[in-house]
Amino acid sequence: MRQKRIKYVDESLLATHGVIIDLCERDFPDQPLEIEIGSGKGEFITRLAADNKDKHYIAIERNKYVCYRIVEKKEALKLNNLTIILGDAINLNTYLGRHKVDAIYLNFSDPWPKKRHHKRRLTAPSFLPIYQHLLDDNGILQFRTDHFEFFIDSLENLSSTFDIMHIDKDLAVSNYMTEYEVKKRLSGPIYQIQGRKKHVTQTL
Ligand SMILES: C[S@@+](CC[C@H](N)C(=O)[O-])C[C@H]1O[C@@H](n2cnc3c(N)ncnc32)[C@H](O)[C@@H]1O
Repeated sequence: MRQKRIKYVDESLLATHGVIIDLCERDFPDQPLEIEIGSGKGEFITRLAADNKDKHYIAIERNKYVCYRIVEKKEALKLNNLTIILGDAINLNTYLGRHKVDAIYLNFSDPWPKKRHHKRRLTAPSFLPIYQHLLDDNGILQFRTDHFEFFIDSLENLSSTFDIMHIDKDLAVSNYMTEYEVKKRLSGPIYQIQGRKKHVTQTL
């Protein structure tokens, strides 16, 4: 999706606001961690962080202009339990290192409708080992979209590494909605999948 350019925003400005811009392992507070991947302008994650001060939240977003919108919200709400990363989900295990998260949120990820682009979807099989490594035992993944075919494809992919706990085909309005969700609700239902990390028995 094309995002509006903000003339004065660059990596060094984001860094002065505490955004992680370098690809290296970081230290996170010793609190339960939750992460949103592709946070967009940050409405969902900043609200969660404001309401749950006992947890630490991470927003990872690869577009610097929308990343700056998260910064604005973080500062307006004076959130010190939110870390913002300007980066790509593919590198999550590098940023997180030894840290494990309790929840991963994928909200209105790009649907990449053309078949030849499905491998770019954040629920494509290549991303699942990253999520498995990142999640603590019993960790959950929550995926939300307005795109039916993307929902069905994601359900199939996620079922291989997650025990599906809930499927919603017309999700109710909540206090935690992204900018896209608010917009997409005007034209149809919202789909949601919640899954718990499957335990893989290791054999030596
Ligand atoms: C369709 S927008 C949705 C934004 C927000 N989640 C919402 O619901 O309003 C998808 C966002 O995911 C980001 N994104 C896509 N792939 C990503 C990746 N591999 N790593 C980090 N961010 C990504 C895009 O830059 C974009 O801001």
